[in-house]
Amino acid sequence: MRAIRTSSGCLLGPWVSRLGSCSRTLFGIRSFPAPSVMTQTGASSGTTSAGSDQVLLFCDWLNRQQWYDHFRAASVPVAWPEEIQNWAAVRYAIGWNFTAEVLSKMPGLRAIASMGAGVDHAIGPGIIPHGVEVVRIVDPLMAQRMATWVMWAVINFQRKMDMYGKAQAERRWDKKIENLKPWDNGEVRVGIMGFGVMGQASARLLVAAGYNVAAWARTRRTPTPTLAEDMDANGGGAVASVEGVHVYVGRDELRQFVERSDILVCLLPLTPETEGIINGEVLGWLPAGSGVINAARGRHVDEAALIKALDEGHVAGAILDVFATEPLPPESLLWSHPRIRITPHVSSITDVPNAVAQISENYRRLVSGLPLLNVVNKAAGY
Ligand code: OXD
Repeated sequence: MRAIRTSSGCLLGPWVSRLGSCSRTLFGIRSFPAPSVMTQTGASSGTTSAGSDQVLLFCDWLNRQQWYDHFRAASVPVAWPEEIQNWAAVRYAIGWNFTAEVLSKMPGLRAIASMGAGVDHAIGPGIIPHGVEVVRIVDPLMAQRMATWVMWAVINFQRKMDMYGKAQAERRWDKKIENLKPWDNGEVRVGIMGFGVMGQASARLLVAAGYNVAAWARTRRTPTPTLAEDMDANGGGAVASVEGVHVYVGRDELRQFVERSDILVCLLPLTPETEGIINGEVLGWLPAGSGVINAARGRHVDEAALIKALDEGHVAGAILDVFATEPLPPESLLWSHPRIRITPHVSSITDVPNAVAQISENYRRLVSGLPLLNVVNKAAGY
């Protein structure tokens, strides 16, 4: 494989094996500082618990016990709902898919920590009580995982891997699939919707591999800082833009952006403004034969409109990691559609040690009266 050099001089040949050593520059983000363990008075200590109150841990994930054990090891006094002794005393709740009912039981709640990058599962209309802060995970490793999945999906579509898979299943040696002229990276116009931490990391990786990348953001500046800006504020030096990537902004520029995207990648936060944004009209703006990749939330895409566009051949393929209903029900038409490739919401799984470190740091900050990190703008929804 030919070596590719990034703008930082980092060699990408073969790029995959070098991701670890290049990741700081390539993903444009730095590792979250290792949290110091603070006592209530702010002094550092190896093992001290930050308080005697209980912290709600609310989730039904397969690895929930691993989370619980990591929090306990970090001296965060987590408790499952059935272990909470005094709901009124709970100030910090960690979880995924909170219900309004459970949140209403905690009148003293001060902050909610999402166990992932997204917060739509927590910020439903009227779900978050007034005055409660919401914090999320902003993790370079998750951004790297996402960027790698997006790169895989782009290559899968570009290099017609599903057709080769079918040919292999039929024991067919078929050199006509690409007609002996590959669709080269520089010719592939990738359009990334959503230019937050995940979108920027994906754009960087694709640009480094020679793709023609543009992005679309709903507003000119995200109301919450990107990780890079956060790091600036904390003494880091990364920049929020990605060299070589034109960013289209707002509804006015959406059509222009979509019309130049051979492969549309959705990495938007789910908010009332972005729900259903990839609808029949937007799919119609894509160039004929384009691909759609969604690793954000299923509700960004009108699934019926997508199936129609695929059946009509206007959209040539879709690679979906997220769905309006999860787990995707066995009877869903998406499972068996010949032009859809499915992964089960695994594009960027939360890394337990990193997430626990961030959530624990915020717990200690809450207890010590310090400002929290990675606070979500609840009005914007991300
Ligand atoms: C997340 C997710 O938001 O995994 O982190 O979907």
